Amino acid sequence: MNRAHDGCIALVLASALVACGAPAAYSKKGGAVSELTVHKVSFNADGAPLGHVRAVAETGEVVCVFADDGATVLVSQTPVSTDRSVTGWKSAAVLAPPGAQSQVLGVDGQGHVHVLRGQRSFDDVSDLFGLRGKPVSVVTALPSGAVLFAAREGVILADGGRVTSFMSPRFTELAPHGSGFLGREDGGVYLFDLPSRGGRKYSLPGVTHVASTPRGDVVVTTNNAVYALGSDGALALLYAADGDTLHGLAASGDTIWFADGEELGVVEQGRVRETAGVHIPKDAELSSSPRGDVWVMGGGALTRYSSAAATSPSTNGTVTKAGDLWRDSLSAVFARSCSSCHLPSGSSGVNLSSFDRWQAQKADIHERVVVKKEMPPQGHTLSDADRAAIKAFTEAPE
Ligand code: HEC
Repeated sequence: MNRAHDGCIALVLASALVACGAPAAYSKKGGAVSELTVHKVSFNADGAPLGHVRAVAETGEVVCVFADDGATVLVSQTPVSTDRSVTGWKSAAVLAPPGAQSQVLGVDGQGHVHVLRGQRSFDDVSDLFGLRGKPVSVVTALPSGAVLFAAREGVILADGGRVTSFMSPRFTELAPHGSGFLGREDGGVYLFDLPSRGGRKYSLPGVTHVASTPRGDVVVTTNNAVYALGSDGALALLYAADGDTLHGLAASGDTIWFADGEELGVVEQGRVRETAGVHIPKDAELSSSPRGDVWVMGGGALTRYSSAAATSPSTNGTVTKAGDLWRDSLSAVFARSCSSCHLPSGSSGVNLSSFDRWQAQKADIHERVVVKKEMPPQGHTLSDADRAAIKAFTEAPE
């Protein structure tokens, strides 16, 4: 992965002002917030206990849930493993280098970095990232495939074979932004550009969260307000909450979600919408989902919400029906009998973790599972009912 190569670079900072005087574009009292409809998205079909959740990392059909007392991996809505050997998880990220397999990274209670192996267990890879003796508190992945850590001394960038340390404030949150990143500390937000090694500081006492979208939108929150970075380079008040009620922020694709009391809000292209009556826990934290959904962690539960219409986007009736069949019955068969070898980075080298993959490999699956009965290999079980379910799928008319 990475060979440690330490260099220490000081970032050049310029200060920027926060525009505070301008009236908020949106506030509920002012009646300017339009309504947002959301619905729950099922991700844990049997409601398996997940513990006190601190972070979620998601890639394709694989969802990794990091909690105080261990981490659980769910594939296609079914838990396939729980690892309790590492505890106190604090932060997680999905490393997705262009053209390479994605990997789930997590930071534990001791500040060590782990990578998920085979969807089952975690390997301590702190040394590989040049982090021996340097506990970290936060990890984030950059679109380039590089990984960024927040440590006591500053920010550490692991980029292919190189590890570079930057002297910076002690950040409690990091987010990718353009060719650089955003960092949050107690009194403000820092915006850094990596190629030029230049940065900008936005003083904002009481700042609680920072988020940024692939399009480059930047949103930060305090307990009672949402600010957006304008094209003029200044932070401007975007939404004023009624009281100290804001408690979570997450960028899921180009949608930025925030938690306001018991409601969820979104900022999309500078517009604010908010739910009325969704009743999330008042102290919940939010985590992003690459599909645009949001994870709500709080009140001892993990819930996933989507703002998209609940109906299937597919216009092709056959695909929708086969897709429904896969989700409703075969995803669980897959989790039980195939996932140990056929996950995206699984030992067989053949990824069968999604409906699309099953559709593409339909003839092979029929041959190996239904006709020759050689999958799963000897010593691995597939019940008669599950084999019949696979047969129904592979023999269904196109
Ligand atoms: C213990 C590991 C293991 C399990 C469990 C397992 N497989 Fe496999 N499978 C493999 C390996 C290894 C290969 C590649 C070597 C081969 O083709 O025999 C493979 C190959 C395949 C192929 C051929 C793919 C290709 O492109 O050639 C299909 C189809 C397949 N498996 C389906 C399944 C299905 C469906 C299940 C679950 C019902 C399953 N397997 C369970 C190990 C496994």
